[in-house]
Amino acid sequence: MDFSKLFSYYFLLLALLFPMATAENSNLFREYIGAQDKGVKFTDVPINSDVQFHFILAFAIDYTTTTPYTPTNGQFNVFWDTVNLTPSAVASIKQSHSNVKVALSLAGYSVAGSTTNAYFLPTSIDSWVNNAVSSLTSIIEQYHLDGIDVDYENFNTSAADEDTFAECIGRLITTLKNNGVIQFASIAPFEDQPLQSYYEALWAKYSNVIDYVNFQFYGYSNSTTVSQFLGYYDTQSSNYEGGNILTSLISDDSGGLTPANGFFNACKTLQDEGRLFGIFIWSADSSKANGFPYETEAQDLLANA
Ligand SMILES: *[C@@H]1O[C@H](CO)[C@@H](O)[C@H](O)[C@H]1NC(C)=O
Ligand SMILES: *[C@@H]1O[C@H](CO)[C@@H](O)[C@H](O)[C@H]1NC(C)=O
Repeated sequence: MDFSKLFSYYFLLLALLFPMATAENSNLFREYIGAQDKGVKFTDVPINSDVQFHFILAFAIDYTTTTPYTPTNGQFNVFWDTVNLTPSAVASIKQSHSNVKVALSLAGYSVAGSTTNAYFLPTSIDSWVNNAVSSLTSIIEQYHLDGIDVDYENFNTSAADEDTFAECIGRLITTLKNNGVIQFASIAPFEDQPLQSYYEALWAKYSNVIDYVNFQFYGYSNSTTVSQFLGYYDTQSSNYEGGNILTSLISDDSGGLTPANGFFNACKTLQDEGRLFGIFIWSADSSKANGFPYETEAQDLLANA
């Protein structure tokens, strides 16, 4: 029997079965923390020393911190739980766990959980980028952070178009990286229009500076099945072609493929196919009540990558 031929057939078959497989297995676990006023601390969350672990502080927003919440054109303020998630708490969790890095996320859905939605509202590209670079550099240095995540979820097509978003965010990430302020950047889109067209425009121009795609798979219906989920994963792998796409769950089980419906089986399938780059969870705040079982299971799975 010609084994080398058999091998070629095997790889040809793999290539046919998984034409969009671009990411490789990796052991990155990420978790949002600090947006929901539950008093959650970094030290509450289980950390497996065999994964790369990113906490993502939610959120820094370019709105005023007092009511009426008003857009500030790239002048970012801190909106996460600053009582528990302090600069010294960041320094301390990183010192006690060499596998931990900490990022901040931009925007989120609403300002401080209010009825004011956090819109992307730049006055101009140059002024927004200048304000964002200087305000975020101060926050990142003050808090000893390592990266940023982009989670604008509200767009007004008459106020700012896709290209403006691509330029503002692309130049912001590029500048922060060139200045040595951050080591990595991610984006956090979900299935919605016009939102996806904004992130796809950003991806088309600046995918080279975006390290991870935190796709919000929990934005789909909470009756999602394993096979639907794997289909969504393929769709988003082609939308963000060449990206390191993480799977995700929401820890209050309110959306997407839940653990009870097979989330971890789906992740295992992707890992067996060699294309599970990582997993992220929204959020530590809501996990706290249940003792973080999903965090433990996700990291155990990734530790086998
Ligand atoms: C969108 O932007 C336009 C133009 O700036 C403005 O007139 C409109 O009120 C905005 N809509 C929302 C929902 O903010
Ligand atoms: C699942 O979604 C339905 C429809 O949106 C909603 O009524 C239900 O409460 C959700 N279930 C959970 C566990 O959040």
